Amino acid sequence: MTDALGPELLLELPGWGSRGRALEESLRAAIRGGRLVAGTRLPSSRDLAAQLGLSRGTVTQAYEQLVAEGWLTARQGSGTRVAAGTAETPARSGASEGLAEAAAPRYDLRPGRPDAYAFPREAWARAMRHVLREAPTEAFGFGDPRGRIELRTVLASYLGRTRGVRVDPANLVVCSGYTQALGLLAEVFTELGVRTAGMEDPAMGDHVRLLAGRLRVAAVPVDAAGLRVDALRASGAEVAVCTPAHQFPLGMSMAPERRSELLEWADDSLGWIVEDDYDGEFRYDRHPIAALQSRRPSRIVYAGSTSKTIGPAVRLGWIACPPLLLEPLAEAKRRAHESRHLDQLALARMIELGDYDRHLRTVRRGYRWRRDTLVAAVRSGLPDVRVRGIDAGLHAVLELPSAPSERAVVEAARAASVDVHPLGEYVRGDRDRYPPSLVVGYATPPAHAYPAALDALIRGLRRL
Ligand SMILES: Cc1ncc(COP(=O)(O)O)c(C=O)c1O
Repeated sequence: MTDALGPELLLELPGWGSRGRALEESLRAAIRGGRLVAGTRLPSSRDLAAQLGLSRGTVTQAYEQLVAEGWLTARQGSGTRVAAGTAETPARSGASEGLAEAAAPRYDLRPGRPDAYAFPREAWARAMRHVLREAPTEAFGFGDPRGRIELRTVLASYLGRTRGVRVDPANLVVCSGYTQALGLLAEVFTELGVRTAGMEDPAMGDHVRLLAGRLRVAAVPVDAAGLRVDALRASGAEVAVCTPAHQFPLGMSMAPERRSELLEWADDSLGWIVEDDYDGEFRYDRHPIAALQSRRPSRIVYAGSTSKTIGPAVRLGWIACPPLLLEPLAEAKRRAHESRHLDQLALARMIELGDYDRHLRTVRRGYRWRRDTLVAAVRSGLPDVRVRGIDAGLHAVLELPSAPSERAVVEAARAASVDVHPLGEYVRGDRDRYPPSLVVGYATPPAHAYPAALDALIRGLRRL
């Protein structure tokens, strides 16, 4: 890269969608955010096109559009420059100034974040326009606490066809993501007299804390086959909360014999299973395994979310609910006073039109490429490091058995300006069960910056 580009022509272009629009939006964001300051000369359209692998015409058009909008100026002889007065300088308190800047790593490889650049803007806008034009007037009121019947109907069929879930639309409850689902379930279980929930260890800390607000939460260890049902039995739990498709965060799929053992536990003890299918749409090496729910819909509460598939901005979730839990769950949902009917109708429309499936196919390709790139980079750059887990999802665990400590690993990554999470953050029991490990979310940063993020991570970890 030449000096004229400056480091921040690290333009954040997604790997798909309209390249010209993405380029425009990246430039706007860089100018608005003050990364490209007034007067900065941009590279020629030919140079930028070559660097980003775009056609020159795409870059020229983007520049022309931004000149027309006042972000850039173009003068013969002085090239294309950032116009004056375009940055939004955020007001900051004197004390926090500098600190925040110094602390922010350049690359974000934390888990749990999908690629925001992949948000299906066109499909969502098309669906929402349709909803605003066509939705019946009653859709603008409070409505059924279970959510819009239009969405529940298409979801029942979508979940059946893609995840093997067996549910009637009447037994689906739509909510705001898995986290709300778990909160509602905690209320329901408490009302039913449940005292103890057994939750996989490791697991997402927020989810553990959410349940622990109402129930005793037993940490149930996992092994290579998934949740240890012997430990679950010993814990006296009446509810098991687990991630059978892709254990979070370790990344294995629950083995067939373990699935059967877990179902036996539910049958013998009349226990409930909460199946968190948070990334079941993303399996790269084979067709996904059907949800556990398909084998015992009467005892398994299945929950999914659009947080990973569309994005946290449309954080709709769904609960396929055993008939015995439906009434209390619908009542808990009513008390939550949440009715995002328009989003629900838009999602229904996206699924109906096939746009949701198309979007998933697109992002799956992108995430698969990211995972393969990560695995290849680790193999060649860090031969002692093992990538744990199946070929699935949006994150992977890197094990560094010869590293001095997990803390040292995280610090080495941070010193290379890469933000990652230590596995220990998710472990409640004995942390020494695991070698020093990182949980790497590979859905960010945007595709063109991703290889550089991996390079930085690997260079950082090689210094250990
Ligand atoms: C283990 C796990 N479950 C569920 C979710 C989805 O939660 P929500 O739908 O509340 O965003 C996530 C998202 O990061 C997750 O990591």
